[in-house]
Amino acid sequence: MKTVRLGLLGCGTVGGGVVRLIRENAANLASRVGAPLEIARVLVRDPSKERVPELSRDKLTTDPSAVLDDPSIDVVIEVLGGVEPARGYVERAIDARRSVVTANKMLLALHGPELVERAVRAGVDLAFEASVGGGIPVIRTLREALTSDHVTRLCGIVNGTSNYILTRMRQDGLSFEAALAEAQAKGYAEADPALDVDGGDAAHKLVVLAMLAFGARVPHDAVYTEGIRDVEPIDHEFAARFGYTVKHLAIGQKHDGHVELRVHPALLPQQATLANVGGVLNAILLEGRALGPCLLSGRGAGDLPTAVSVVADVVDVAGARLNGAAGLMTRSVRFEDTRLAPID
Ligand code: NAP
Ligand code: HSE
Repeated sequence: MKTVRLGLLGCGTVGGGVVRLIRENAANLASRVGAPLEIARVLVRDPSKERVPELSRDKLTTDPSAVLDDPSIDVVIEVLGGVEPARGYVERAIDARRSVVTANKMLLALHGPELVERAVRAGVDLAFEASVGGGIPVIRTLREALTSDHVTRLCGIVNGTSNYILTRMRQDGLSFEAALAEAQAKGYAEADPALDVDGGDAAHKLVVLAMLAFGARVPHDAVYTEGIRDVEPIDHEFAARFGYTVKHLAIGQKHDGHVELRVHPALLPQQATLANVGGVLNAILLEGRALGPCLLSGRGAGDLPTAVSVVADVVDVAGARLNGAAGLMTRSVRFEDTRLAPID
């Protein structure tokens, strides 16, 4: 039986979770794909670092060509983070007609449409479930379940680090710095945590969601973006006194061909569903014209929840390759002529 060979770019928080999940669920995954999955090579910066025990060290390399130019590799998993060199590696993998799975929302927010179009031209899949909502299947829901409807609005908590910090400050009286340090220790934060606390990561995710929900190509820097750095303990106290909770939200809506996208802290009534989504949980409320509201919630960051989404994508794209259906997933992403609405 053929083995599906995987090239893993990066083996930090998410990459380590991917290695563990693939090893722990090997038999189940093989039966779903129709062939065993094998992690063939793993690109890292520092091969001497301690890694998850499930990874055999002879797979490690610091040479990207050992992954990208190996013709036996079928699927490339990009969990490096950042734009370069991730973008160049993903392009090389696509051009070599390998399917790609990525968790990199920054890369997608800056170059998503061109990478999708490149994958379509090459006839391969570009899958990115883990880029938004960690383990929550929101990309699948938009790409598959809601294709028969028109999404008019979405509103969600999409940055686990910010939600964790706000929750620990409000419920347990932690300082911003202490709560951020905890989020980093748990593997929730970006390599540069300013992306989390200043709202950039949520803005990247909103651009990815808008691409699928509204078919919009939005420059990531056109999203109105505010983070949680200025939320102080007294803000939580006053909000509670008047029956509100401070939450960091990403909001997208489409009306008359215009798309409005914004990311900022907001006061929610304490009984609102999103007000009660605490810690690292994320929640995304989608509103379909026909469906009405649909709420998805779950762990939005961390090694294993995120790996659940990455490995689900690997199963899909590997199975598609074996069945001669590679590229169908990527072709389902449609772009529409949309304009950004100004935010007052
Ligand atoms: P991380 O812990 O910092 O891991 C990054 C990995 O990539 C490390 O193994 C690092 O190597 C390797 N790497 C980085 N730059 C490299 C380069 N130029 N050449 C070779 N190797 C390089 O990051 P992470 O938290 O796993 O996040 C990875 C991606 O997933 C990011 O795009 C992030 O936004 C996304 N994501 C993260 C989460 C989460 O909860 N953490 C959730 C969803 C999505 P070394 O180990 O040798 O340093
Ligand atoms: N740093 C991100 C967060 C990781 O905290 O939500 C998940 O995308």
